[in-house]
Amino acid sequence: MIDSIKSMSNYIDAYQKSIQEPEIFWSEVAAQFVWERNWDSVLKWNFQTADIKWFEGAKCNITANCIDRFALTMPDKKAIIWEGNDLNTGSKSLTFKELQIEVSKFSNVLKGLGVKKGDRVAIYLPMLMEGAIAMLSCARIGAIHTVIFAGFSAQSITDRVNDCDPKVIITSDSMVRGEKKINLKKIIDESISQTPQVKHCIVLNRGDEDINMNHGKDHWWHELMHEASSNCEPENMNAEDPLFILYTSGSTGKPKGVLHTVAGYMVYVGYTFANVFNIQKDDIFWCTADIGWITGHSYSLYGSLLNGITTVFFEGIPTYPDHGRFWDIIDKHHVTIFYTAPTAIRALESFGTSVFSSKKLSSLRVLGSVGEPINEEAWHWYHKNVGKGNCPIVDTWWQTETGGILISPIANITPLIPAFATLPLPGIQPMLVDENGVEIMGNEVEGNLCIKFPWPGMARSLYKNHHRFLETYFSIYPSLYFTGDGCKRNKDGYYRITGRVDDVINVSGHRIGTGEVEDAIEAHSNVVECAVVGYNHDIKGQAIYAYLICLDKTVDVKVLKNEIDKIVSDKIGVFSRPEQIQIVDGLPKTRSGKIMRRILRKIAEDDYANLGDVSTLLDASVVDQIILGKTKKISQS
Ligand code: WTA
Repeated sequence: MIDSIKSMSNYIDAYQKSIQEPEIFWSEVAAQFVWERNWDSVLKWNFQTADIKWFEGAKCNITANCIDRFALTMPDKKAIIWEGNDLNTGSKSLTFKELQIEVSKFSNVLKGLGVKKGDRVAIYLPMLMEGAIAMLSCARIGAIHTVIFAGFSAQSITDRVNDCDPKVIITSDSMVRGEKKINLKKIIDESISQTPQVKHCIVLNRGDEDINMNHGKDHWWHELMHEASSNCEPENMNAEDPLFILYTSGSTGKPKGVLHTVAGYMVYVGYTFANVFNIQKDDIFWCTADIGWITGHSYSLYGSLLNGITTVFFEGIPTYPDHGRFWDIIDKHHVTIFYTAPTAIRALESFGTSVFSSKKLSSLRVLGSVGEPINEEAWHWYHKNVGKGNCPIVDTWWQTETGGILISPIANITPLIPAFATLPLPGIQPMLVDENGVEIMGNEVEGNLCIKFPWPGMARSLYKNHHRFLETYFSIYPSLYFTGDGCKRNKDGYYRITGRVDDVINVSGHRIGTGEVEDAIEAHSNVVECAVVGYNHDIKGQAIYAYLICLDKTVDVKVLKNEIDKIVSDKIGVFSRPEQIQIVDGLPKTRSGKIMRRILRKIAEDDYANLGDVSTLLDASVVDQIILGKTKKISQS
């Protein structure tokens, strides 16, 4: 376990040191990991060119740190507990020793299929033990994993595969979520027909008979594993070798392949996990995030295992077989730290509190929140009903690009204020800037959130597109990392994230790019142009509102909505479907042709009084028409 902060004065000292002597600070943290060779330099950086290097010269393997050292010192401790979707499937677990054997075997399977250091491997699996094994095996042999969330469509898989050219894809015949069963292999087959570069597909057999295996290309997981040796030494990786690519949405263009590298990511997620959650050695940690997202990577998997802590994987959903499922799992596995998203809390809140009378929840010590701003009401509900008033809530702010948590309370140490992510972790230097990039000093202020100094876990590039990396994150405010988030700083210097200031929408904690959804909707033959915005939604945080210009305006809106849902599901995934659509005559555009989404957001939220300046619009009358159309739409429905 990595040393952690024990008191507020400890935090202040650590923070000061991390700012004044960052290299000494991080080399002391890094010294707690296992290295094959020490670094020659701790940090080299240049935000003008977006070049960041941590621990250059060092050699290590993250799986030696996550698995091997604990397989030696505590082989029988549970590394992963898996809880299935269906009650009758029960649960399974793997000890550190068993995990070492499984990962070594699967590493040999990958090698046997010709996967070498630096090759990409795509993983399209739900929350299964095998997902963890696949990721760790890639890391062990130096292959770069790219996990594709199992809710993405065939088209989305194709886009990602064409960007990063994996040799192998790993999937399962099916997945179950609540009452729903989804045949993942069929989706992969649809995608593989467009991606000849994929040489092999490894399929996990979960007993689904309706599945087609292509001779030569498709292999059963269990058959390959049966023949594999359980001996595989970890590959000696350079500190800055890639560890994984994870695609995420931005305001424009196709999803970006965020690239993280071995050593800095390892040190940062290991350190932040131990500190933020105030880890004790017997903790049972449960993060409900899927391995398809960064939270699943950094804390369900790497952060917990780097500290030798047992992590829980749950395949199902919070409301199946009933809305007490989360609380039952906490009681069943004696979970001590529970980390989830505000959207799940709000969804469960809507069922009331009577469910708690039959749940103990007495094992819980720390609660966490991630992925979107948590509203005060949900914070209090979570604190009172789940934490019984005794568990601190760590509201952790971070991003796919940051690798790990940047602003968050330290459990049991930082005094909390509901809905505030509170203070930066050691090593993190946040800065608020105005529209022109001028730093906003002092407290009781609001601005755009930037970070002015590197931290080890930050992304190093976008896969094969360093220029886009530089443009997206370091050019809007030169020499600063721009997060895309708005933020307030209160009188005590506490940070409160207010949400995205760019065109990224956060629906139920899923990051969705407006441009991607617009492109999908515009593929409908009746849609000439569209504009998509996010608006506040009681449970999802934000939902999608789409304004459409149609060739045939007399079309039945319900029929059109169904067709658009289908297109968006096929092109991106079900979670990106618009909540509402509205047919309009025109869109509010500036003279240079830019859509003023700010105005459309206000209209979607019925906030007609605060539309702001409309004088720069080419044709301001479209605004009145849209409002009129919306009020009519509401009175009709
Ligand atoms: C939002 C998820 C408020 C934010 C880890 C960020 C949050 C985006 C919080 C990144 C939080 C994440 N409070 N907003 N505690 N955590 N966000 O890449 O807008 O999926 O930029 O990473 O989620 O989403 P991503």
